[in-house]
Amino acid sequence: MSIAPADRRKRRMLIQKVDELPALPVTLMEIIKVTGNPDATANDLAQVISKDQSISSMLLRLVNSAFYGHFRSISSVSRAIVILGFQTVKSLALGASIFHSSPESRGNALDWDKFWVHSLAVAAFSKKLASKVDVMGEIDSETVFVSGLLHDVGKVVFNNYFSEEYKEVVMIARKDKKWIRTVEEDLMGIDHCGAGQYLASKWHFPPPVIEAVEFHHDPGKPENQPGTMAALTHVADFCCNQIKIGASGNEKDPELDEVAIDILELGDGKLDDVTTEIENERETIESFGIE
Ligand SMILES: [Fe+2]
Ligand SMILES: [Fe+2]
Repeated sequence: MSIAPADRRKRRMLIQKVDELPALPVTLMEIIKVTGNPDATANDLAQVISKDQSISSMLLRLVNSAFYGHFRSISSVSRAIVILGFQTVKSLALGASIFHSSPESRGNALDWDKFWVHSLAVAAFSKKLASKVDVMGEIDSETVFVSGLLHDVGKVVFNNYFSEEYKEVVMIARKDKKWIRTVEEDLMGIDHCGAGQYLASKWHFPPPVIEAVEFHHDPGKPENQPGTMAALTHVADFCCNQIKIGASGNEKDPELDEVAIDILELGDGKLDDVTTEIENERETIESFGIE
């Protein structure tokens, strides 16, 4: 499908705007820099993260939360790196710092608290589901969690940096009962999957996370990629929307693409089991505030 010239122009404008983003959180910039340096040590990373009190405490709360599924309590960032590993802490720190923008720099097109709960729930759901399927290959459970947490990162960018335009997107999607993605394409020239993919690549997220961001609504589409992460995030996103835990800004009834079920070789009952487990943790997840 070719992109109309007007859309191409809008898309270019948006990407240019994203490239010029003035105020990425300093900690996020530093985390990206340190983790992009092949010579960086765990200590370097711990130092950067520990400088920012709110990101460190968010990171520690995340890894120690009941739904994260880690059973040893971790009390410091350097301890977290020793126990969980450099890659995991890097990814979780990215996740924590992206969401942890200050209320002043945060747009208000989305209900931020509900959107955060949606992201957490998809992360927890994906991780549980991954442990029940046999097709995850090399992808570890932490990467799965982070992929779920960041799958809608494109919406975070729209909400925080294109707040006025995005308010209109959310309003039209609601009023006309349209998919939010369709309205994003119409008004912004790119949907949250495209914008998210662009940023996730630019910020050197791990490939499975990029796949989840780009294809969580098109699990049949990834070419030259395994497709497992896209399928997993798609199913988790569908289930969390269906049981209405948090809110992603989309009010149309969710639709499940059966391709994802085939890719994951999901037998009977597994999805129901995970849904029940998440239902049991609903209160904990919903009360996990972002502040
Ligand atoms: Fe999405
Ligand atoms: Fe979502």
